[in-house]
Parts: sequence; C-alpha cells; structure tokens
Amino acid sequence: MESNFPTSLRIVIIRAMLKLAGLLLLILIAGGVYLIRDIHLKNAAYEASIAKTVVEDTFNEEEWDKIENGIHVRTGLIDAEGLMTVVSNCTSCHSAKLITQNRMSAERWNETIKWMQKTQGLWELGGNQEIIVNYLVTNYPSKKKGRRMILENIEWYELEN
Ligand code: HEC
Repeated sequence: MESNFPTSLRIVIIRAMLKLAGLLLLILIAGGVYLIRDIHLKNAAYEASIAKTVVEDTFNEEEWDKIENGIHVRTGLIDAEGLMTVVSNCTSCHSAKLITQNRMSAERWNETIKWMQKTQGLWELGGNQEIIVNYLVTNYPSKKKGRRMILENIEWYELEN
C-alpha cells in the first residue's frame, strides 16, 4: 500500500486537473457562444435600426398615414370607409396605382382576389374581403356601363297626323 500511495495520489491530482481543464473549456465555449450571439444580436439590431431610419426618412411617423384633401398620401387612395383595410392588405406587394387603374365590379374584384390568392401568394382575407371589395366598388366604380343608362325625365309629345 505504501508504494501505491503516491501513485493513487497522482491519479487523484490528475483527475482533479482534468476536471478543472474540462470546466475551463466549458467556460471558454460558453463565453465564446455568448460573445458570438451578442455580436450577432447587436448587428441585427443595428441593421434593423438602419432600415427603420430609411423608412422614417421617407415618411416620418406623423406622415405615415397622413390624409390630405381626402387622399391617403402614402398610397394615393381615397379616404373612405375601409381605407386602412385596403392599405394594409393590398399595398404591400404592388403599388396602389395598380388597384385604382383597374375599375371593376364586385364580382370581378372577387375573381381578381381569388386569382392573386391562387397564383401570387395573397393571403386569405376572411371578413376583410367584403370591406375591401365594398371600398373598391364604392370609391373606384367601373366607368364602363354594361348597358345604356335608363332614360329619365323625358318629355313625351303627341304625334300629329
Ligand atoms: C402577396 C402579394 C399581393 C398582395 C398582398 C396583393 N396583390 Fe394584387 N397582385 C399581386 C401580383 C404579383 C400581381 C401581378 C402584378 C403584375 O402583373 O405586374 C397583382 C395584380 C393585381 C391587380 C392587376 C390584376 C390584373 O388583372 O392586371 C390588381 C387590380 C390587384 N393586384 C389588386 C389587389 C388588391 C385589391 C389587393 C388587396 C386585396 C391586392 N392586389 C393584394 C400580388 C399581390
């Protein structure tokens, strides 16, 4: 036993040192991961702040949804019931001009919406679809009439033989 003692002591010391080395390694890795994450997060926050500044430079908070002479300035859409529903659902992929150039009936609007949902990645609009279509047909009615206007206020006269 007496000759074994130093050897077992050595083993104990080596084991303790290994444990300590392992612990140090763990601390190093954790610290490294923390640092990298921190840099990454700070970088992301910085990029987001730049993007926000760019948007704010174009339209500051006050002007973002400003209405001037009955027109929503940012999109050019008429200020009426349903405006913000249209702005938030219909102006993120293309300009509102594309909408106002197209004057359609409710039926054709519903078809256009269905087409965009099938082919262009437009989301389900739920109850908002009716609000949007009502806004469109009310404020941007189709110019072309399907048939001649009904005649009104006609003064008939008697034919004389
Ligand atoms: C997810 C993206 C997206 C959203 C949101 C979106 N659209 Fe579109 N829309 C498109 C794309 C893409 C086109 C095709 C553009 C082109 O042809 O240049 C299009 C085309 C159109 C057209 C032209 C159709 C034609 O026959 O030429 C109209 C009108 C229109 N959208 C209205 C709307 C309305 C109203 C909404 C809101 C309900 C809306 N869009 C929301 C993607 C979208």
